[in-house]
Amino acid sequence: MSSTNRGTDRNKFDYYVTPQKDIVNFLEAFKRNHNDLENVKNVLDPSAGGDQNNEMSYPEAIKKVYFNWNVETLDIRTDSRAKHKGIDYLKRNISEILPDYKPDIIFTNPPFNLAMDFIKKALNEVRTDGYVIMLLRLNFLGSKDRNKWLKNNMPHEIYVHSKRMSFTKNGGTDSVEYAHFVWKKGSKSNTKLFLLDYK
Ligand SMILES: C[S@@+](CC[C@H](N)C(=O)[O-])C[C@H]1O[C@@H](n2cnc3c(N)ncnc32)[C@H](O)[C@@H]1O
Repeated sequence: MSSTNRGTDRNKFDYYVTPQKDIVNFLEAFKRNHNDLENVKNVLDPSAGGDQNNEMSYPEAIKKVYFNWNVETLDIRTDSRAKHKGIDYLKRNISEILPDYKPDIIFTNPPFNLAMDFIKKALNEVRTDGYVIMLLRLNFLGSKDRNKWLKNNMPHEIYVHSKRMSFTKNGGTDSVEYAHFVWKKGSKSNTKLFLLDYK
């Protein structure tokens, strides 16, 4: 979901590796703000990424902060490290891939161009009172196309990454601000905004 390297060498499936430290930073703040996470068992990463040289960022970051979540992973790429590879999340019901599985949280950095479809599908699939958490550009909020949907489905919380995130090996950043957007299925409360601390 980065705009770095957009253009000729842009990966067909919009594959970028999210820095684990930024996910950990978010998760620590999320954990501090929630006392309902002891009920969480099943977490789904529907675009889990990873490849020969890179771990899957979200499952690895989760292990560093929460040790007892059962994280299921899928990805459309066959060279991903996901347990369920070659799967188009938007074309398959999660119950076909994982019978009797109901995610408590669906959590990922989705492919940029498909982010809205990922969010809508995830909100259908997560349990009531469960969370859909997506890394998105801050200007996700500003689109005319999404305005109506957003007004009816305001995020429960937004955690802004105040330091620009780097999706490249050389540590370069693009000129885009990111945030972890949290939807709570069934909740209509006002959006809470958090600015993450960086040391
Ligand atoms: C921005 S990358 C993020 C990867 C990983 N979540 C991370 O944060 O490092 C998006 C991922 O979505 C996968 N992807 C793209 N379209 C998909 C689809 N329709 N269904 C499932 N995965 C998809 C790509 O292969 C890629 O691994």
